[in-house]
Amino acid sequence: MHRNLPLCLHLWLCLLGELKLYEGYLQQPSITSSARYATYLTGEPVTLQCQASVDFRVHGYTFFKNDQTIQESEANKYRISSAKRSDGGSYSCLYWVSDSRGRQESDRSFPVSLTVLDQPSTPTLKVIPKESLYFEGESVILECEHPPINIQVNYYFHKDSSKLDSYHDTMSSKHRIDSLRTRDSGKYDCEYRISGHQRTFSSSKSMPETITVTALSSAPLLNVVPPYAAFIMGENVTMECVAPSPVRVTVYRIYREGEEIMGPFSHKGLHMMQNITKTDQAEYTCMYWSPQSDRETPSAQSDVKEVYVIDPLRPPLLSSDPPSGRIRDGGNITLYCITSENYERTIFHFLNETDEISSVSLNYPQSRAGTITINMKKSNNTSPPKFSCQYTAVIKGRSLLSPKSPHIEIIVITTGSLLWLIAIGVGAGIVVLIIIVSLVYWVLSGKKDPPSEVAAEPKSSNVWPLPSQGPTLLPTKPDISSLPLCWTS
Ligand SMILES: *[C@@H]1O[C@H](CO)[C@@H](O)[C@H](O)[C@H]1NC(C)=O
Ligand SMILES: *[C@@H]1O[C@H](CO)[C@@H](O)[C@H](O)[C@H]1NC(C)=O
Ligand SMILES: *[C@@H]1O[C@H](CO)[C@@H](O)[C@H](O)[C@H]1NC(C)=O
Ligand SMILES: *[C@@H]1O[C@H](CO)[C@@H](O)[C@H](O)[C@H]1NC(C)=O
Repeated sequence: MHRNLPLCLHLWLCLLGELKLYEGYLQQPSITSSARYATYLTGEPVTLQCQASVDFRVHGYTFFKNDQTIQESEANKYRISSAKRSDGGSYSCLYWVSDSRGRQESDRSFPVSLTVLDQPSTPTLKVIPKESLYFEGESVILECEHPPINIQVNYYFHKDSSKLDSYHDTMSSKHRIDSLRTRDSGKYDCEYRISGHQRTFSSSKSMPETITVTALSSAPLLNVVPPYAAFIMGENVTMECVAPSPVRVTVYRIYREGEEIMGPFSHKGLHMMQNITKTDQAEYTCMYWSPQSDRETPSAQSDVKEVYVIDPLRPPLLSSDPPSGRIRDGGNITLYCITSENYERTIFHFLNETDEISSVSLNYPQSRAGTITINMKKSNNTSPPKFSCQYTAVIKGRSLLSPKSPHIEIIVITTGSLLWLIAIGVGAGIVVLIIIVSLVYWVLSGKKDPPSEVAAEPKSSNVWPLPSQGPTLLPTKPDISSLPLCWTS
């Protein structure tokens, strides 16, 4: 029993095989490429294998390409020693067995698709525009050119043999570098890749293209002569563009508010403004060009210089408190120096006839009036003291001195002269009083005794002094004693 078992199994299997054949059922084979991929380059060897999933003798295999029989033999392999583009297509196979009933064919395998591609040709890197020298800020386009391919292509750009970081869209054959910097200088090349089933083919790298980027020449200095920012109308001003010393300069240009000045010497970096007016008030810049390679390299812009044109300063007004300008000896007088405009900084100068006596510095915005208080003392000088003022205005950093204000006179009244005035006043008052008293007496005496008018006539010469008696106005004592005599009569 034990020895019969393999024989039995064999018979059983034979029977099973025969049964299947009888049923006309030959399992579908599979076709595979001996490589793990289905994409080949022109010239590569290709081997396709037809595998039947049966373990009995197969008598032959048929290979099909695009449904056309291409090989019918006992070999289960189809070999292409050197693939051509025309070998691309859909391959399938079947196998067959021969028995008493003739040839029995299996079903056709599922097809495999082979692609045969050329090795990608070496691309050309084009730099657009092509210059021997680029300036910072310019842009270029790199284009990886190759003959058209009917398959998806990915591009790779390199700078100095390493991948270009800025390049992201690998589907685009163009890469734009905006605003070149000097660090973008270098050797650039490109390659491209095509992908098929399980395989990627890279082109070789293009010939390198050199990009040289130069920085703009360093900025020139724009000098204003004289070196102010504010000018009074009518002054002469020269603008001077100066390149850093070792640079060879081809041409200068000076700009007012961004527009080139077409002056006779502006290409030499000079612009002279005589009798400056408000129309010259502007912002100025300049630049220069220097030769380099076959391009003239521009410089960076100079700093902006602002020219500010002002009217000549007007004299200030000087006023005093008290406004009459009369002050007692030892009293305080306050002087106000008033400008018509506000300035960043104003220094008020108070002057007597010869010298500055005081100055007051004020900053914007409380800069319209400077005040000082002077304690006045009577001087031996007969003429009254005179004061004036002027101011220094700081305009855009420039100090300008104004004309002087009109003078004002201060009259100092001494206490001595006051006493003298009082004395005169008192004297005059006494005289008036005596006249009144005399008049009253004369009137009263006339009314009481009209007949005595004649009798009194000789005595009146004592009461009223004769003009020959001199300028004495005061009555003498004997005259007064004579009065009661008249009263008694
Ligand atoms: C400006 O220049 C002209 C010509 O050189 C000269 O006559 C004039 O006096 C100058 N003006 C001033 C304010 O310097
Ligand atoms: C300066 O310009 C003013 C106004 O434009 C003009 O009136 C004056 O005559 C000019 N002076 C000179 C010296 O050119
Ligand atoms: C004058 O001013 C000074 C200080 O400003 C003050 O000390 C003095 O008392 C003033 N004199 C009079 C008379 O107001
Ligand atoms: C004024 O004159 C007197 C004498 O004449 C003198 O002592 C005094 O110093 C003088 N004062 C001034 C301010 O000149």
